[in-house]
Amino acid sequence: FTDFLTDSFGRHHTYLRISLTESCNLRCTYCMPAEGVDRQPRSQLLSTDEIVRLAELFVSQGVEKIRLTGGEPTVRKDFVQLCERLGKIEGLKGLALTSNGIALEKMLPALKDAGVTQINISLDTLVAPKYHLITRRPALKRVLSCIDAALAMDFPNRLKLNCVVIKGFNDDEVNDFVEFTRTRDIDIRFIEYMPFGGNKWDDKKFISYTSLLEEIGSKYIDILRLQDHPNDTSKAYKVDGHEGQIGFITSMSDHFCGTCNRLRITADGNLKVCLFGNAEVSLRDAIRDGENDENLGELIGAAVRRKKSQHAGMYALSRSENRPMILIGG
Ligand code: GTP
Ligand code: 5AD
Ligand code: SF4
Repeated sequence: FTDFLTDSFGRHHTYLRISLTESCNLRCTYCMPAEGVDRQPRSQLLSTDEIVRLAELFVSQGVEKIRLTGGEPTVRKDFVQLCERLGKIEGLKGLALTSNGIALEKMLPALKDAGVTQINISLDTLVAPKYHLITRRPALKRVLSCIDAALAMDFPNRLKLNCVVIKGFNDDEVNDFVEFTRTRDIDIRFIEYMPFGGNKWDDKKFISYTSLLEEIGSKYIDILRLQDHPNDTSKAYKVDGHEGQIGFITSMSDHFCGTCNRLRITADGNLKVCLFGNAEVSLRDAIRDGENDENLGELIGAAVRRKKSQHAGMYALSRSENRPMILIGG
């Protein structure tokens, strides 16, 4: 095997995001168009055996962390069993998932037993009618209950909340989210709104992290910059005295492509080497053509070496074609 996880800029990819489904039990406006997306028949999506095979191959070559995404990963029928299989892969150090927290709560004990190490939950507002507006479902209570349950379960890594900040929608709630960290050991990450297929992004809805920091700093004077972990997507901060911390995912105003260590596999089995790259290669077809691991490795390596040094920038991205977020998984 030649190393197929290092790209032509020397970035070594140790973090694989696998999308498990194109379905979701919410309809967030920033993630999918109002009319929904055309979902593919189940036969076109990776089977559980195919996912496990790919995960084993990537881990054998140096992937240390796998994050399961969707759509919403928990709506996949055999989600817990899949986690149990992935949790047993030798050499895998972290098994994470990103969920909206709607169907997750009752699965938490089984997921912990399966070896899930970290959970990120999406929550963009603390106000019930606004939650209904942005997700098109009246389900805020469920998510809050799931967050409490996940906190109580004490997963190996700290619980994270993902909050996409949209100007005029929830930018006025940023300090309420900061307040949420006062008594909870939680990491709230404010995410800059990104343009994706069908989400009608425009720069009037965009607010950069520096504006949010100013807003937070005007209420909380004791805000400390923390050290980030290598390859983190977020810049970490903490209000002195609060249990939890906050962070900013600044993909648009200050990208972090130089330290990118992430690869993605879509639910239909395409390798996507960049969140914003359209170049995709079908691992599903290669598997179904009977290719062995060696040939799969070559295919993956060729795609990884074509990865660009960084994304094209906010305005170019807002005009380019990409899958809607629901078909990428973040
Ligand atoms: P950790 O593994 O806990 O660091 O989480 P993560 O930030 O890698 O993943 P998560 O699924 O929680 O995603 C949070 C936000 O970060 C989403 O908006 C993602 O789209 C974004 N994100 C995740 N990975 C990347 C990436 O490689 N590039 C960019 N630009 N954004 C990313
Ligand atoms: N911009 C920024 N973040 C987004 N997410 C989904 N769509 C967008 C977008 N357009 C976030 C979700 C989820 C994570 C996987 O990606 O909130 O937490
Ligand atoms: Fe990596 Fe692409 Fe995200 Fe940049 S935009 S950090 S290259 S996935």
